[in-house]
Amino acid sequence: MATTRRVILLLTLICILCNKGTSSSASSDVDAFLGCLSADIPPRLVLTPATSNYSELLLSSVRNLRYVLPGTVRPLAIVAATEATHVQTTVICGRRHSVRVRTRSGGHDYEGLSYASLDPQQQFAVLDLAELRTIRIDVERAEAWVESGASLGELYYAVGAANRTLAFPAGSCPTVCFGGHLSGGGFGSLARKYGLSADNVLDALVVDAQGRILDRSTMGEELFWAIRGGGGESFGVVLSWKVRLVRVPEIVTVFGIRRFRNQSAIDLITKWQDVAPALPRDLYLRVLVQNPQADFVALFLGRCDRLVHILQRRFPDLGMTQSDCQEISWNPRAVYVNYRDLDLGTNELEGNVTSYEKAKVWGEKYFKGNFERLAAVKGKVDPDDFFRNEQSIPPLPAAKR
Ligand SMILES: Cc1cc2nc3c(=O)[nH]c(=O)nc-3n(C[C@H](O)[C@H](O)[C@H](O)COP(=O)(O)OP(=O)(O)OC[C@H]3O[C@@H](n4cnc5c(N)ncnc54)[C@H](O)[C@@H]3O)c2cc1C
Ligand SMILES: *[C@@H]1O[C@H](CO)[C@@H](O)[C@H](O)[C@H]1NC(C)=O
Ligand SMILES: *[C@@H]1O[C@H](CO)[C@@H](O)[C@H](O)[C@H]1NC(C)=O
Ligand SMILES: *[C@@H]1O[C@H](CO)[C@@H](O)[C@H](O)[C@H]1NC(C)=O
Ligand SMILES: *[C@@H]1O[C@H](CO)[C@@H](O)[C@H](O)[C@H]1NC(C)=O
Repeated sequence: MATTRRVILLLTLICILCNKGTSSSASSDVDAFLGCLSADIPPRLVLTPATSNYSELLLSSVRNLRYVLPGTVRPLAIVAATEATHVQTTVICGRRHSVRVRTRSGGHDYEGLSYASLDPQQQFAVLDLAELRTIRIDVERAEAWVESGASLGELYYAVGAANRTLAFPAGSCPTVCFGGHLSGGGFGSLARKYGLSADNVLDALVVDAQGRILDRSTMGEELFWAIRGGGGESFGVVLSWKVRLVRVPEIVTVFGIRRFRNQSAIDLITKWQDVAPALPRDLYLRVLVQNPQADFVALFLGRCDRLVHILQRRFPDLGMTQSDCQEISWNPRAVYVNYRDLDLGTNELEGNVTSYEKAKVWGEKYFKGNFERLAAVKGKVDPDDFFRNEQSIPPLPAAKR
């Protein structure tokens, strides 16, 4: 917290300093731009460096901390759009008053281009789409309309809740957002079977450089093609995407196998390069190499038996066996206390302490066999359950230890 506050202070200072440097003709453009915005966009949604929450919003989705450093070139304003018309207005006013617009959905851009500029002379505003994140799923048609500010995690959750055999092929990082991800491609563990996210787009709504909202039929196939892989930022602002959902089995199988250099890791990586592309498309097998180890990580759209059979035939040297398998449901929740999830279950009281039996429901998902041991420790050090919350470890009564 203290660090965050210091960074915010620093940023504010930097912004004050860099604003001093702008010439008077540039600042009259800026004033005219802000005046133009105010005709359509409520002032609370237009933040300038002079506004108290400018830095907070700016930093809210800076994912690469290089771009909080001094010297980063900042926007003269951030528009926190909540409606499509705000996007149109920002584009129109930007053109009219020579202010560039950089669109930000999830802020994961490796080079920070959605919220920072390399050129200190560039006058630009950030159009922040974080509030445009509605997801509408049509289970019958296996389709969804997804706004650009929705994250992959939000979509996975919504699709999983709608039907357990529906999925969307996209990346593995849950905070990445639709706007950047789909316009650049989007690959993940379903890519071998279903292609990239961009391959599964059926329609899109785009605000073009004239501020018009276009859909697939009005934008034409060339533009529709370009925004699916060419990087949306060069062509307009994509408001939302209509995507095709795909079918997955209710139970899938995963494994992670680690091999060290002294366990032929290098030979295995070499073989993997030939084997992996020829595997059945239901099987995604990647390898993460970090000296001195190689982690072979797989997702198979099927059950363990078949997976073992395939790998023993195609990649026997990996030495994969039944005991490496984990059969799980699709869209599985990350079950890990540091990815806490109260949907897995919450505590209930039994007498004046947390019920051990009830807590097992979520607890064994996080901790497996260690749950009982943790509860025993709790029973010794805090038998009255003073330190308790919705998912605290319950005290295992002495009689049961
Ligand atoms: C931790 C991490 C994990 C990742 N994992 C994967 C992965 O598994 N698979 C994969 O394929 N990629 C992955 N990526 C890369 C990611 O897909 C891209 O960085 C993507 O562009 C991020 O989109 P965003 O909306 O979050 O980022 P932003 O920074 O908001 O946008 C990225 C670019 O797209 C433009 N843009 C954003 N929204 C729009 C819009 N609505 N209309 C037009 N242009 C827009 C921006 O101007 C910017 O140029 C990962 C990145 C990170 C940081
Ligand atoms: C910024 O702060 C003002 C005043 O505290 C508030 O009214 C406004 O909603 C905030 N804007 C955003 C985008 O958070
Ligand atoms: C999910 O979709 C499948 C295939 O259409 C269907 O058979 C199943 O009943 C659906 N399940 C739910 C819970 O809607
Ligand atoms: C193999 O290497 C790993 C990591 O470098 C090490 O921990 C392990 O003891 C080694 N095993 C053998 C049999 O040398
Ligand atoms: C909880 O209940 C037990 C038995 O009912 C009692 O002995 C104990 O003092 C209570 N503890 C607290 C903190 O109220």
